[in-house]
Amino acid sequence: MFQLNENFQKLPGSYLFSTIGKKVNAFTQANPDKKIIRLGIGDVTQPLAPAIIEALHKAVDEMAAAETFHGYAPDLGYEFLRSAIVSAYKERGCDISSDEVFVSDGAKSDSGNIQEIFSVNNRIAVCDPVYPVYVDSNAMAGRTGVYNKETEMWSNVIYMPCTMENDFVPEFPKETPDIIYLCLPNNPTGTTITKEQLSEWVNYANKVGAVIIYDAAYEAYISEDNVAHSIYECEGAKTCAIELKSFSKNAGFTGVRLGYTIVPKELKSGDVSLNAMWARRHGTKFNGAPYIVQRAGEAVFSMEGKAQLKEQVAYYMKNASEIKTGLKDAGYTVFGGVNAPYIWLKTPDGTTSWEFFDYLLENANVVGTPGSGFGPSGEGYFRLTAFGSYENTLAALERIRKL
Ligand code: MLT
Repeated sequence: MFQLNENFQKLPGSYLFSTIGKKVNAFTQANPDKKIIRLGIGDVTQPLAPAIIEALHKAVDEMAAAETFHGYAPDLGYEFLRSAIVSAYKERGCDISSDEVFVSDGAKSDSGNIQEIFSVNNRIAVCDPVYPVYVDSNAMAGRTGVYNKETEMWSNVIYMPCTMENDFVPEFPKETPDIIYLCLPNNPTGTTITKEQLSEWVNYANKVGAVIIYDAAYEAYISEDNVAHSIYECEGAKTCAIELKSFSKNAGFTGVRLGYTIVPKELKSGDVSLNAMWARRHGTKFNGAPYIVQRAGEAVFSMEGKAQLKEQVAYYMKNASEIKTGLKDAGYTVFGGVNAPYIWLKTPDGTTSWEFFDYLLENANVVGTPGSGFGPSGEGYFRLTAFGSYENTLAALERIRKL
């Protein structure tokens, strides 16, 4: 008789964005005449940039002729893409070699999968609130202990609260973690820390022998000079950090799917190289991102691609600035939106995150994301994304102002 992975039974509810999707569907079915504006999930709305479309067309044509057809991609990614990635790191002063780059089908998969190379006995530390994939994937692996429905916390997870009281900067935990997840600029709060503060985390990890899983999915949105674009800008990071990168937010690949992970060769446990372990895992479980998509990824680093994407990022950041100013003027307390495409607001009059979600959906027909869905310290906060169209962003603001 087969047995199930009982860790799945311990997971509370459904994945955050599935729960929201269900609620919104129920509302639209009951109110078919209402025009919903979706500023919930951080999904992009602008079309792919012309340089990317051109690369896609060219690659599709190559697939049509036997001489230029491509079958299985190399496990770790095509050299043309890996070397474009290496050059981008070099421009930031980071010395990464192409055999430290692992191309994948997106940072969500990598952020869920990376825990596989670590012992089930490791203790993870996460910011609270946090992107739910880090905790849920560790829960599925049996690393998080028992879930307490009252506190909405796992017994074996170290939570690092990030709230307005500490300027959303995680503090070193009292108990020593083995694996530290950091997402900077941060999803969901839209805030970030300085390079100096990040260097302190690198020193801490090296001192206690922890590994940092550094999710830099929102790096393209950094506007301030004192913020690191990669953890490898900090001295010592190559002996303690794995970096996850996405093409979703900087290049609109949410529906195309492409990402990469950097596992430095210096990152070791005793004599064992984490780079070799991840290569083994990747080679066994993944047959490479599609050739067509990797060519599109290469175009992201071209001169034209870079210029076009800079404009796209500026478009979304204009939305962020409109939301931030508009909500402030309407009396809300707001954070983020300067180095990230998310606005994090305090829910008004002590309403809970979910109460505010329902209120906004029913009265303004605007969908956001309840802060408590990202962890207990997100209670009393609410996230709006800047990834909508400019017109929808302004329309949503107008509706919220009128409430
Ligand atoms: C979010 O809304 O938090 C993100 O879009 C989810 C993701 O990137 O998977």
